[in-house]
Amino acid sequence: MLEPVGFGMAKRNGCWFIICFLLLLQATGSWGETGYDAWLRHQSLEEQARLAYELLPKLVVLVGDSKMLNSARDELSRGLLGMLGWRLSLRGTISSEPSIILGNSRVLAALLPQLKGAESLAEEGFWLKTVSSEGATHIVVTGATDRAVLYGTFALLRKIAVGDPVDNLDVKQNPYAPIRFLNHWDNLNGTIERGYAGKSIFWEKDRVSDDLNRIRDYGRLMASVGINGCSINNVNADARVITPEFLAQIARIADTLRPWGVRLPVSVDFSSPRKIGGLDTFDPLDPRVAEFWKTKVEEIYHFIPDLAGFILKADSEGRLGPSAYKRTHTDAANVIARPLKPHKGLLFYRGFVYDHHMDWRDLKLDRAKAAFDNFRPLDGAFEDNVIVQIKHGPIDFQVREPASPLFAALEKTSQAIELQITQEYTGQQRHLCYLVPMWKEVLDFDLQANGPGTPVKALVAGKTFRRSTGGFVAVSNVGRDTNWLGHDLALANLYGFGRLAWDPDLSPSQIVQEWIRLTFGNDERVDKTIVDLELKSWLAYEKYTGPLGAGTLTDIIGVHYGPGIESSERNGWGQWHRADEQGIGMDRTVATGTGFIGQYSPVVAATFESLKTCPDELLLFMHHVPYDYRLHSGKTVIQHIYDSHYEGAQEAAGFVQIWMNLKGWIDDDRYAAILKRLQYQAGHAIVWRDAINNWFLRKSGISDERGRAGHFPNRIEAENMTLDGYSVFEGKPWETASAGKALQVSSPGGQGTASFRYSGKPGQYDLSVQYFDQNNGKSSLRILLNGREVDHWLADESLPSSRPDGHTSTRRTVHALSLTPGDEIRIEATVQADERACIDYVEITPTQR
Ligand code: GCU
Repeated sequence: MLEPVGFGMAKRNGCWFIICFLLLLQATGSWGETGYDAWLRHQSLEEQARLAYELLPKLVVLVGDSKMLNSARDELSRGLLGMLGWRLSLRGTISSEPSIILGNSRVLAALLPQLKGAESLAEEGFWLKTVSSEGATHIVVTGATDRAVLYGTFALLRKIAVGDPVDNLDVKQNPYAPIRFLNHWDNLNGTIERGYAGKSIFWEKDRVSDDLNRIRDYGRLMASVGINGCSINNVNADARVITPEFLAQIARIADTLRPWGVRLPVSVDFSSPRKIGGLDTFDPLDPRVAEFWKTKVEEIYHFIPDLAGFILKADSEGRLGPSAYKRTHTDAANVIARPLKPHKGLLFYRGFVYDHHMDWRDLKLDRAKAAFDNFRPLDGAFEDNVIVQIKHGPIDFQVREPASPLFAALEKTSQAIELQITQEYTGQQRHLCYLVPMWKEVLDFDLQANGPGTPVKALVAGKTFRRSTGGFVAVSNVGRDTNWLGHDLALANLYGFGRLAWDPDLSPSQIVQEWIRLTFGNDERVDKTIVDLELKSWLAYEKYTGPLGAGTLTDIIGVHYGPGIESSERNGWGQWHRADEQGIGMDRTVATGTGFIGQYSPVVAATFESLKTCPDELLLFMHHVPYDYRLHSGKTVIQHIYDSHYEGAQEAAGFVQIWMNLKGWIDDDRYAAILKRLQYQAGHAIVWRDAINNWFLRKSGISDERGRAGHFPNRIEAENMTLDGYSVFEGKPWETASAGKALQVSSPGGQGTASFRYSGKPGQYDLSVQYFDQNNGKSSLRILLNGREVDHWLADESLPSSRPDGHTSTRRTVHALSLTPGDEIRIEATVQADERACIDYVEITPTQR
């Protein structure tokens, strides 16, 4: 779809023919889409589907007047115009004409006796109900609050978009939990911590963006899935954010999001009293500090009367906290929470507290224990408007972690689970990784807090211990890329989080199916293909990155992207997997290890403690085992590592083939953009596969029983080619270059040639060049066969490193080349800036037909 601005203007100018033309193009699928509209495209339905809604009223009656109700009305008009081609008329009173009635149940129940029963709705729950009055049939969209009416309107539109019937409606839905928030890690200068889709939509050069349109459109997306809160600044907060200069600007964002029912919490710096308050202390027990927070809170509510509260990251990863004065987390939380209380403000105190200077040689130390150790003893001592915000696993958003034991350990403290939509450790939106299945496993995991039947979702929603609040938070980090998250298919995670927070009993496939229909239309082939891809993606990513619960074997002290196996060891960050010559895994048992397992309730602990019952997928999170240890599957650990990396990389290659079935079935632009990402992913999965397998092969000394690891018969190492202007360097870490070596153009700004003669059988082959596309320059490369150019390209991707390593290693493939023995294959490169057109190897494989 085009940018919505153009669409709206056309409407206002009465250019109906343009709209019809646009709708026609959309319906035929021959038009490029930018992805900007995400799942709110309101795409024109097929003729047949439209007929099913022919009897829908064409009149909207809006009872009441508020920004959120207006949003509901406008969205309904926009949606039905898009999907059914209708222009709705509008009234303020119910008459004998059939209508869609939007209004708050407190007002509507007095007008329509059929709405008795609305009292049972939760504050944000909605009711879609068909009623008859004065001989006319109406569809009522109602709820106890205007926000609920907005949610109901989106639910009605969703039904129509996916082709659900809307006659005789009687659908009541209450959200599972009151907190359904997004967090953004955006810095005031416009950069985003762990953001992979461009700069901040909220901030630019230490100011709130002048253009608020994009923020408004994000508000629409959030409202459509029931998200009711969104923070806009990094948890590693800049203290200036709560100074008057910034508050006036943040108030503009609050005004923009308010019509969509989205409230702002602000992330604050615990040392603010000193940094911006003119005090010489930030000791939470100092009365001057308490006074600072009180005055500050009053000031903030003056600017933003419905502020949702504050988020605080303290005593974590170098952030200052109460430990500076030997105070507790409750001292810190309560001094801020107290003044928030009269304003119904909440304090989200992050449970992500750990020491990142731990002695790695001490086998009893364990970062996984930190959250529980810090917060469990304080249960009951927090003000009741404090919410402890807990990451879903005990480490940090790894590709597989057990549920954090802290969820079950807080009985008298409200809590929220923190999930991560931004794919920090799961492929940074360059790899497809649908995370809903992972979240779902954690949410459904029964921690047996007080016997069976206490899944994480119930604990965080406050159901188990009857807390007044709690729920779901996710780190979202959308950016200015037109399609919000960089990868069109990654939006299933943003959508999925909202839907899961509303109803965690939905299944990952239900959610993704719904999302696909809204995002790509109701074609069965498209639906099946993308469901297939999305549902396979997390497990595939796990297979070629971090198997058996060892953690994502990435460069953990850097950008958290490509392989970097040893980066987690011999430092204080505590993401240790303890792989050595003999074996791998963290011994977290009570019997011989760190004792982490003892933080779970007895039944859960017993399952993890015993090798017999510990599930394979978490084995290395819980235990240290030798490489020849046999899994429940019957395989040894080392063979599992080899096999899963080959399987995962093969699945990633398969994603490209699966996607290619959709050529012509979705719009060309999104088809091509997604294809490009999937092709890149397939290449990078090979980098992962080889780095991990080669490393474990060398470390363990145990060969792959299927003979693959370390053997690459179709590969010509670049360092063995004839070189001119190129020189050899050692890979760092060694496993990120094939055979530990690669080539770089010897001089900056220079040129290089690497050539060899083909010595295999004659035939048709695909030729892949594995090279490094750094972000500090652009190189042009050519491939020549017997002096004739067969491919050329510019290495100008912005992969996250300025060095030739596991983050930048990527490949380019020329398909179906006819080769005969003796043919000369030559790669020529011209480099620019600091990039050196580094080449790792060439691989020649028979073309598959
Ligand atoms: C991770 C992430 C940091 C972030 C931190 C947090 O460690 O890499 O960038 O600040 O989590 O959640 O606070």
